[in-house]
Amino acid sequence: MEKTSGLQQNMASRFLLIGHLIVLIPLFSAEGCVICDYFVLVGEPIAITCPIITLPVLHSDYNLTWYKNGSATAVTTERNARIHQRAGLLWFIPAVLEDSGLYECNVRSLNHSNKKTINLTVFKNDNGLCFNGKMKFEQKVTSTNIGKIICPDLEQFKNEENNQPEVHWYKECKPGFLEDKRLLLAEGENAVLIHNVTVQDRGNYTCQMVYTYMGKQFNVSRTIGLEVKEKPLQMQPEFIYPRNNTVAVELGSHVVMECNVSSGINGLIPFWQVNDEDVDIFDETYREQFYEEGLPHGLAVSGTKFNISKVTVKDYAHKFFCHFIYGSQQFTAYIKLEYPARNIQGYLIGGGVSLVFLVFFTLFIYKIFKIDIVLWYRDSCHPFLGKKVSDEKIYDAYVLYPKNRASCLYSSDIFALKILPEVLERQCGYKLFILGRDDLPGEAVISVADEKIRQSRRVIIVLVPEPSCYNILENESEKQLAMHSALIQDGIKVILIELEKIQDYATMPESIRYIKQKHGVIRWKGDFSERSHSARTRFWKKVRYQMPSRKSGSLSQLHLLTKDLNVP
Ligand SMILES: *[C@@H]1O[C@H](CO)[C@@H](O)[C@H](O)[C@H]1NC(C)=O
Ligand SMILES: *[C@@H]1O[C@H](CO)[C@@H](O)[C@H](O)[C@H]1NC(C)=O
Ligand SMILES: *[C@@H]1O[C@H](CO)[C@@H](O)[C@H](O)[C@H]1NC(C)=O
Ligand SMILES: *[C@@H]1O[C@H](CO)[C@@H](O)[C@H](O)[C@H]1NC(C)=O
Ligand SMILES: *[C@@H]1O[C@H](CO)[C@@H](O)[C@H](O)[C@H]1NC(C)=O
Ligand SMILES: *[C@@H]1O[C@H](CO)[C@@H](O)[C@H](O)[C@H]1NC(C)=O
Ligand SMILES: *[C@@H]1O[C@H](CO)[C@@H](O)[C@H](O)[C@H]1NC(C)=O
Ligand SMILES: *[C@@H]1O[C@H](CO)[C@@H](O)[C@H](O)[C@H]1NC(C)=O
Ligand SMILES: *[C@@H]1O[C@H](CO)[C@@H](O)[C@H](O)[C@H]1NC(C)=O
Ligand SMILES: *[C@@H]1O[C@H](CO)[C@@H](O)[C@H](O)[C@H]1NC(C)=O
Repeated sequence: MEKTSGLQQNMASRFLLIGHLIVLIPLFSAEGCVICDYFVLVGEPIAITCPIITLPVLHSDYNLTWYKNGSATAVTTERNARIHQRAGLLWFIPAVLEDSGLYECNVRSLNHSNKKTINLTVFKNDNGLCFNGKMKFEQKVTSTNIGKIICPDLEQFKNEENNQPEVHWYKECKPGFLEDKRLLLAEGENAVLIHNVTVQDRGNYTCQMVYTYMGKQFNVSRTIGLEVKEKPLQMQPEFIYPRNNTVAVELGSHVVMECNVSSGINGLIPFWQVNDEDVDIFDETYREQFYEEGLPHGLAVSGTKFNISKVTVKDYAHKFFCHFIYGSQQFTAYIKLEYPARNIQGYLIGGGVSLVFLVFFTLFIYKIFKIDIVLWYRDSCHPFLGKKVSDEKIYDAYVLYPKNRASCLYSSDIFALKILPEVLERQCGYKLFILGRDDLPGEAVISVADEKIRQSRRVIIVLVPEPSCYNILENESEKQLAMHSALIQDGIKVILIELEKIQDYATMPESIRYIKQKHGVIRWKGDFSERSHSARTRFWKKVRYQMPSRKSGSLSQLHLLTKDLNVP
C-alpha cells in the first residue's frame, strides 16, 4: 500500500475514490477512510483537515472541535501552543515523535453530529537522507514531453504577509540539479518543469520551504518520487506481417493467416479481404479474429487472423489482402498461397538415379541389339547418306575354308560353297572370292591367295574342330603366311566362323588365336542342308555386322541384282 503524507494529498486521493462512489452511495462517502492516515517529518509543522468537512452535506453553520484520542477536553485554540486548533485545522508547529497517535474531529450542527478519527504518524528522516521513503509522493512524467514536478500540499503555509515562501529544490537531497538547462522553476507555482524528459530524470525530488510562525522558522519539506514513463516516438503503424510474400502450403492443410501491425497506438484494427470482399464473405468458413498485444515502450501489436481449415484449390488463386486505416490513409499488404515446391534434393537425386539408370539401360539395349541396330542403320540410312566406299577392292570377302576330306564329319564344303554364297551373295549382294570356286585351275595358290586377299575387304575363315580336317595350316603354310602378312600389312579384318564348338584353340595357329581373342568367333548353329537360309537369323546378322556395309541399294534390290548377275 502506498503511504501518503500530508493533508492535501490525502484529500486528493480520497476525492478520487469518492468521486467514483458518490454516485452510488453518497451518504456513506464521508467514511472514505475509516481512520485516515497523516504523516509528518519530525520537527516540521503540519496542519490537519478534518475529513468530514470536505463534504458538501454539511450545514454551513457548524462547530468543529478537535480532541486527542480518548480525551474529553478539546485541543486548545491557543495560537502559541505547539498543538492547537485554528480555523477548523489541527496544527502541530512543529510535530514531535510523541505526537503520533489518534485524533478526533467532531462536527456539530443544530440537529446533526459527526465524528472522525485520524491517525498521525511522525517520521524521522531515513538514515543519511533528507526524507523518509515511507512518505513520498509519487508523480509520473512521460518521456519526450515537458514534465512537471509539483511540490504538493503547501497551501496552509503562508507567511504572516500571506506570501508563499520561496521553495528550494533538491534531487536525492542535493541541490544544484536545476543547473541543467532542461529544468526550470515554474513561475508562480511550486513546481519544476523538465523539458525533453529522459529516464535519467527519475528519482527523489525534495522541495523545501521555510515557514515562519510566531517569529520562529520551520522547514516544511515534501519529497516526490518521480517516475518517467517512456513514451514511444510518434511512429507510423506498419505491417510486421504479411510482407507481400508467398507461403507454401499443402493442399488440404490447415493454415492460420495472421496479419500483424506494429504501432504506438491502440485501437488499430486490421482486416482481411480477398477478391475485393471481406474474407468471411468470400468463404463462410473463414472467421476473422482480432487480437492486440501491448509491447514494452508503449508499442502495440494489433493483429487479425483467420483460419483456413482446409486449403482448397481456390485459395491458391487469390491474393489475401490485409488492410488497416491510419489517419485518412489505407495501408495494404498481401499474402499468397502457393503449392509447395517439390523437394529439390530428392528431385535431383531421383533425376540422377533415373539418368544413370537410363544410360545403363541404353547401353544394355545397345549391347543386346547392337547388331540389329547397325544393320538396320545400314539398310535404312546408308543409301540416303550416299557415302560411297572407294577403296579399289574387288571383293567384299575372301573365304578360306578347310577342304572336306573323307574322314571329316563337317560339311565345310557345303557351307563355304553353297550356304555362304547363297546368303551373302544372293541375298545380301556381297561379292565373295572363294578359293576353290573362283580361282582358275593351274594358278599358283600362293600368288592367287596373296593377290585376292589384298583385293578383299574381309577375310572369312571357316574353322572346324577336328585337326585332321584342318588343312589351312597343315600343308599350306605359304598361304597362311600370305594371309598373315596381308592381315598385318593391310589391316584387313578377319571374320572367324566355327562350324562346331572348338574346345581347344591351343592347336590353332597363333594368328587365329589372336584374331579370336580380338574379334571373337561366330559359331554356326544351322544344319548343312542346301535349303535356303535366311539372312535374318542371328548368325547371319552377326556375319553381316562384321561384313562391310554394302555400297548402295536395299536388300531386296540387291537380292534381285545379284540374282541376275551371279546366277546364270
Ligand atoms: C485511544 O483511546 C482509546 C480509549 O480511550 C484507547 O483505548 C486507545 O488505546 C487509544 N489509542 C491510542 C493510539 O492512543
Ligand atoms: C458553536 O459554539 C458556539 C460557542 O461555543 C455556540 O454559541 C454555538 O451555538 C455553537 N453552534 C452550533 C451549531 O453548535
Ligand atoms: C434540523 O431539524 C429541523 C427540525 O427538526 C429541520 O427543520 C432542519 O431543516 C434541520 N436542519 C438541518 C441542517 O438538517
Ligand atoms: C497509525 O499509523 C501507523 C503508521 O502507519 C500504524 O503503525 C498504526 O497502527 C496506526 N494506528 C491505528 C490505530 O490505525
Ligand atoms: C529539446 O529537444 C529538442 C529537440 O531534440 C531541442 O530542439 C530543444 O532545444 C530541447 N530543449 C531543451 C530545453 O533542451
Ligand atoms: C529514492 O529513494 C529511495 C529510498 O527511499 C531509494 O531506494 C532510491 O534509490 C532513490 N531513487 C533514486 C533514483 O536514487
Ligand atoms: C532546514 O533544513 C536545512 C537543510 O535542509 C537546514 O540547514 C536547516 O537547519 C533547517 N532548518 C530548521 C529550522 O530546522
Ligand atoms: C503476430 O502477433 C502475435 C502477437 O504478438 C504473435 O504471437 C504472432 O507470432 C505474430 N505473427 C506473425 C506472423 O508475426
Ligand atoms: C484456428 O487455428 C488455431 C490454431 O490451430 C486454433 O487454436 C483455433 O481454434 C482455430 N480457430 C478456428 C475458428 O478454427
Ligand atoms: C504490398 O502490396 C500492396 C498492394 O499491392 C502495395 O500497396 C504495397 O506497397 C506493397 N508493399 C510492399 C512492402 O511492397
